Amino acid sequence: MAKYRRLRANRVALITGAGLRLGRAMALDLANQAFDLVLHANRSAKAVETLAKELRAQGRAVKVLKADLSNARQAEKLAREAWAAFGGVDLLVNNAGIFGPTPLEKLNAAALDEYYAVNLRAPYILAAELGRRMRAGKGGSIVNLACVSAAKPWKDYVPYSISKAGVAALTVGLAKLLAPKVRVNAIAPGTVLPPEDMPARQREALRARLPLQRLGRPEDIVRALRYLVAADFVTGQVLYVDGGRSVV
Ligand SMILES: NC(=O)c1ccc[n+]([C@@H]2O[C@H](COP(=O)([O-])OP(=O)(O)OC[C@H]3O[C@@H](n4cnc5c(N)ncnc54)[C@H](OP(=O)(O)O)[C@@H]3O)[C@@H](O)[C@H]2O)c1
Repeated sequence: MAKYRRLRANRVALITGAGLRLGRAMALDLANQAFDLVLHANRSAKAVETLAKELRAQGRAVKVLKADLSNARQAEKLAREAWAAFGGVDLLVNNAGIFGPTPLEKLNAAALDEYYAVNLRAPYILAAELGRRMRAGKGGSIVNLACVSAAKPWKDYVPYSISKAGVAALTVGLAKLLAPKVRVNAIAPGTVLPPEDMPARQREALRARLPLQRLGRPEDIVRALRYLVAADFVTGQVLYVDGGRSVV
């Protein structure tokens, strides 16, 4: 395995799907915590370049890498290139993912393969490739984005829910395998940023069912990530940040 000389003193984070929404919010907060960043994007190359420019203006070192994570080879290449960018990675945030319903008539092999490839296989490859290097080096931390549906799969979202249940299992398995030098945890968001085309009525129905009576905000996820990055006695945990949805 290639060894790289650390190029800067700062901690380095790779965050996948960093151009928009939760990925962007977490990247901004990691930059505020003085992480240098490897920002990954697939289709949102423009958005991620804009974000990189903003962060460089704040004094952060930023590398942008493109990969289609439905392709295993590209996921492996992303891990190699991310490690090489600054001579190491201290934090991997497996954020990129796809989301959507699968009606019963489309519950076929292709539907499962699609969610499996992006939501589970890619985080698995990145965590294995980078976790191995972290463990052989000075250690590190991995945070996966799961979902509240990992614990209670949704009937209209079976392939998606299965992929996120896999992310929860990946988190626990790797936490044991990579300990003690590498911690592995997950955040399981409830509804934070619903799809932009979700009708207001559906949004309100979701909100009304929650013990905490509000949908999540990106800051809720950002705070959870901050906690897991700092919590050096915590590994193998799936932290539900869901307004209480997982307990009702
Ligand atoms: N938002 C929520 O309320 C919520 C709830 C539960 C769980 N989560 C989980 O939290 C994470 C972030 O949520 P989000 O809503 O911000 O996610 P999102 O907007 O749906 O997707 C995040 C990014 O994933 C990347 N992505 C999708 N397919 C890809 C592919 N084939 N190759 C590479 N990248 C790909 C996209 O990057 P490009 O745009 O560059 O293509 C996209 O911007 C996801 O894992 C999601 O499942 C979110």
